[in-house]
Amino acid sequence: KTKCAVVTCGGICPGVNDVIRALVMEAHHNYGIRSVIGIRNGFRGFIPEYGYDLVDLTLDRVADIHHLGGTILGSSRGIQDATVIVDSLERLNINVLLVIGGDGSMRAAQEIVNEISKRRKKISVIGIPKTIDNDINFITRSFGFDTAVEKATEAIQCAHVEATGVDMGIGLVKLMGREAGFIASQATLAMQEVNFLLVPEDPFTLEGENGLLKALERRLLQRNHALIVCAEGAGQNLMGQPTKRDESGNPKLGDICGLLRKEITRHFSEQNLECNIKFIDPSYIIRSVPANAADRVYCSFLGQQALHAAMSGKTGMVVTHLKSTMVHLPLELVTSKRRTLNVHSDYWCTVMESTGQKSYFTP
Ligand code: F6P
Repeated sequence: KTKCAVVTCGGICPGVNDVIRALVMEAHHNYGIRSVIGIRNGFRGFIPEYGYDLVDLTLDRVADIHHLGGTILGSSRGIQDATVIVDSLERLNINVLLVIGGDGSMRAAQEIVNEISKRRKKISVIGIPKTIDNDINFITRSFGFDTAVEKATEAIQCAHVEATGVDMGIGLVKLMGREAGFIASQATLAMQEVNFLLVPEDPFTLEGENGLLKALERRLLQRNHALIVCAEGAGQNLMGQPTKRDESGNPKLGDICGLLRKEITRHFSEQNLECNIKFIDPSYIIRSVPANAADRVYCSFLGQQALHAAMSGKTGMVVTHLKSTMVHLPLELVTSKRRTLNVHSDYWCTVMESTGQKSYFTP
């Protein structure tokens, strides 16, 4: 008899509830599985000392959850001991585990698979990678990315309105993405008003004729306003090597927009020029909203595919979209490294052309 469980881990992302709903519906309608167990609060929910907190995911329970952002199961960051998790899977008689999480959670899923195979047990583990950053290896589009970009474009639009509403206005928008510039570049491509795009993959300089400050000054003198989109991981070369790491082991990023605001203000006052910086940081808003239409459809397919993979006996795989097809890929493949923007690609050239830039910032 199949006993299926789902767990959601890491930072939230639009569409998590849609995936949960889709896989519960699929389990019920096509495999006759009457209820799926939801494990609350990420992998912590498997640790007996925190007390198991389980939710019966019935059809009624999931009926309307796609209208909600976040995850109805709650989440947690950080990895727990795989042996304790497998003990719990055995104790709870779970033989299908679906893990919705980022790359850290996919690595944890792989450890769980290894532990299960050591014990020669038959428990299927399938991952559904999630992140707004779109930086998972081999995955051309992670769910939630499209929604995050859509929300980010609203912030860019507002910054443009603000910048054009004053004399010598500079709109500055900070966007999430960790060490990858996918959100910032895609949102830039969508909003043709952006003049300067700063991403981690393309280090830039502030000073000198080819630096950002002079380029910004030229732009303002010509057009009286400018719009900068800055990925949170951009310009880390200007702030020294990160020394601190967060609980998932990611480097803590320096405050690039703080530095930009300070340096732009200093530069313009030294030139005896006015400037009005309008800074917008939509921050968590871009990832806490419910999924948009495109992500909803995608998440439904992901939920269904995850269940098909598990029910056909697969394990140690993720479900995803690769080159226009839904595929199952080995967990190991997607966790081997993070994907970043290729700044030599046609895509990147198109983005840079849309901002009217050639190569201002390459040091
Ligand atoms: O990975 C998704 C993401 O939203 C990043 O874009 C961002 O840097 C990070 O998570 C923020 O995470 P936290 O929830 O730890 O603040």
